[in-house]
This record gives sequence, structure tokens and C-alpha cells, in this order.
Amino acid sequence: MIYMFFKLTDEQLMIQTMVREFSRKVVATTAAERDRTKEFPAENFKKMGELGLMGMMVPVEYGGEGTDTISYVLALSEIAYSCASTAVVMSVHNSIVCESVNKYGNEEQKTKYLPQLTSGEFIGAFALTEPHAGSDPVSQSTTAVRDGDEYVINGTKRFITTGKNAGLVIVTAKTDEAKRHKGISAFLVEKGTPGLIVGNIEDKMGLRASDTTDLIFENCRVPAENILSKEGDGFKIAMTALDCGRIGIAAQSVGVSQAALDAAVKYAKGREQFNQKISKFQGLRWMIADMATEIEAARQLMFSAAAMKDRGENYTSQASMAKLFSSEMVNRITGKALQIHGGYGFTKDYPIERFYRDARVFTIYEGTSEIQRVVISNNIFKDKRKP
Ligand code: CAA
Repeated sequence: MIYMFFKLTDEQLMIQTMVREFSRKVVATTAAERDRTKEFPAENFKKMGELGLMGMMVPVEYGGEGTDTISYVLALSEIAYSCASTAVVMSVHNSIVCESVNKYGNEEQKTKYLPQLTSGEFIGAFALTEPHAGSDPVSQSTTAVRDGDEYVINGTKRFITTGKNAGLVIVTAKTDEAKRHKGISAFLVEKGTPGLIVGNIEDKMGLRASDTTDLIFENCRVPAENILSKEGDGFKIAMTALDCGRIGIAAQSVGVSQAALDAAVKYAKGREQFNQKISKFQGLRWMIADMATEIEAARQLMFSAAAMKDRGENYTSQASMAKLFSSEMVNRITGKALQIHGGYGFTKDYPIERFYRDARVFTIYEGTSEIQRVVISNNIFKDKRKP
């Protein structure tokens, strides 16, 4: 592992400032209301497309911004600061869908889909998980059978972020049931394709403005040219995509924890008990100091994984470390920040209860904390130890 100490470049700082302003002026204004109504922030994604946030790492020739991963995580954590629902959609779209099409798509696929994705016209979704295949995606049972110039997909995918609002879905399916990892392939499926049905929409405790749905494939016919890479590459594509996705969840965690810390500091400066501001109590100040230290540690892990990706190194383990530490961290931080708010933290009068609910899933999706430990320890022992 190469250790790194770095200073953000002027360009990275400019992107951070621009996204911070957009996030706090636009995204933040409706976040609480959308949490209540579960309304998807569709118009914000159009604006984010115009600002270049919907294809940040995609090369300029395909309509992207061609930024590095450091700029991307800076931007994503700024969006998460205001609205974690918006951030998860941005994360899956950029880290997983745009990255996979750019890395594994052929020229026709990139020319066709990347401009639609980067403009925000199409939001991307990633359909890997199934009712009985979560941590173990190899056990999925969705099938794709070749029929002439098409594949016919059948099966049910579960917990799909942006399942209802996505314009393009990357779906994995078995093309060879006799094989395990090498029997899985990945396909690009457009919204509106006959046989692609949006099923149950989950009523979640957090991230309520981001739709999470079942996607049901019923004799869904997809042109054979929509296969990503080639038959049997689907598992590798999914795992590579999740490496980058996990950096995205780290960024989301950093953003939400910073928002929770700032909210706690603001509250502590205003709240008086025992004839003084509660911010004067050493017990509380030490809590704040520990919270700030943990957030900084998570931020450095996030930067480290992003920098390794930018240098073209294998960053699988570092992405899992960043995801593991920061997703556990944000749950501690939002819990402490809520505690500092006292009884008011338990009400909807303050945003901290939303941050607390939103953060809960971060240790679960894109690989649970337990799976991150499997990935990290497998990389240490290199013995492919099974969970
Ligand atoms: N990059 C490239 N290839 C990889 C890889 C990676 N990160 N990880 C594994 N592979 C390759 C291996 O090299 C191996 O290839 P060979 O057969 O050629 O040697 C192959 O994939 C199989 O690897 P493993 O034996 O390690 O696979 P496994 O079945 O034991 O699974 C696992 C490993 C880490 C447990 C994996 O299944 C995993 O990550 N599970 C969690 C799944 C997950 O994160 N789901 C989240 C759903 S998506 C989501 O939440 C998105 C959303 O909407 C928010």
C-alpha cells in the first residue's frame, strides 16, 4: 500500500465549493419535506446533470466531466450533507452505472448511453440483489436465455435503488446455470422495455426520497448487443462496480456525519442548562472532539481509496475499509449528535432524526459490514476464505 499525504488541487477545491453552494441552496431546501412525502427529487437530478454531477468520472468525449475520483467523492459528500436520498441515487448512478458502462461498454454502448446518463436524462440503477441472494449474489436465480438476436430475461430483483425512476438498469442474470461466477452476465436494459415491471416500492425508515423497488423481469427481451462485455463477465463487472460503489458510500457517510456534527455544534451553542450553554460542558466538548476525529479518519480513508483508484492500483480492500469504517462511524456520530440534542433530537423539529434514520442502511447496502470484513481479510490472507 502506498501512503499518501496530499493537498486538494485548485480544481478539486473549485468543484467542492460549487457543489457545496448548490447542495445547500437547492438540495437542502426540500430534503425534509421529501423525507416526509417520499417525493423523488427528479428536477434536482436535471440540474445536477447540467452541473456535470451525473457523469463526473466519464470522459468528456462521452458527455462527462472527466474528473478524478477525489473530485467525485468531494462532490458526493457535499450532496450527502444536505440530502442522503439524493446522494445514494447520485452514487449508484456515477460509481456503478456510469463507471461500468465506461469501463466495460463497447463503443456503440458508450456512444448511445453515456450522454443520456451524464446529462441526467437517464438515471442509472444496478439490479444485482434478489430476494434470496443478497450477500451471496452468485446464488441469484434470474436467467437470461439467448434467443436469436435477443436475450430473454426472467427473474425478480430486490431492493433496487432508483428502481422506479431509472432510465437504464444494469441487470445481472445467469446465462449458464451449470457455472457459478462465470455463469453470470450483465445486461443494459432500458426503462419501458416490455417485460420489465416495477414491483413493490419499499416503505423505508430512511432515504425515503430515493425509491427502492423490486424489478420483475417477465420474458423481458433485450437485444443481444446490450450485453456488457461478454457472457460470463457479469460477476466481475458487479464486483468491480461495487468497489467504486463502496467509495461512494464512504463519501455519503462522511457527508451525513459532517452534517450531524455541525447540527450538534449549532445546537450545543444555543442550548442552555444549569445557567450556561451546554457547549461549555467538558463532557460534551470531548464528545464533539471524538466525533470530529472519527469523521476526519473516515475522510482520509475515503481519499486514500479514491487516490488509489485514480492511480490505477487495485483498491478493492481500501474501498472496503473506507466503506466499513465510515458507515459504522456515521451511525455512531448521528447517534451522539442526536444525544446532544436531547429530547428535541427525537422530534422532527430538527434534522438530526432524519440523519440518524438515513445513516442506518449504510452498514448494510453495497455489502454489509460483515461482507467488507470478508473482502478485507480475504485480501490479507489471499485464500478466498468464504463467509
Ligand atoms: N474485482 C474484480 N474481480 C473480483 C472482485 C473484485 N473486487 N472480487 C471478486 N472478484 C472475482 C474473483 O477474482 C474471482 O474470479 P476468478 O473466479 O476468476 O478467480 C471471482 O470474482 C469470485 O470471487 P470470490 O470467490 O471472492 O467470490 P465469492 O462468491 O466468494 O463472493 C463476496 C465474494 C465478497 C462475498 C461478494 O459476493 C460480495 O461482495 N458480496 C456482497 C454483495 C453486495 O455488496 N451486494 C450489494 C448489492 S448492490 C447495492 O446495494 C446497490 C444499491 O442499490 C445501493
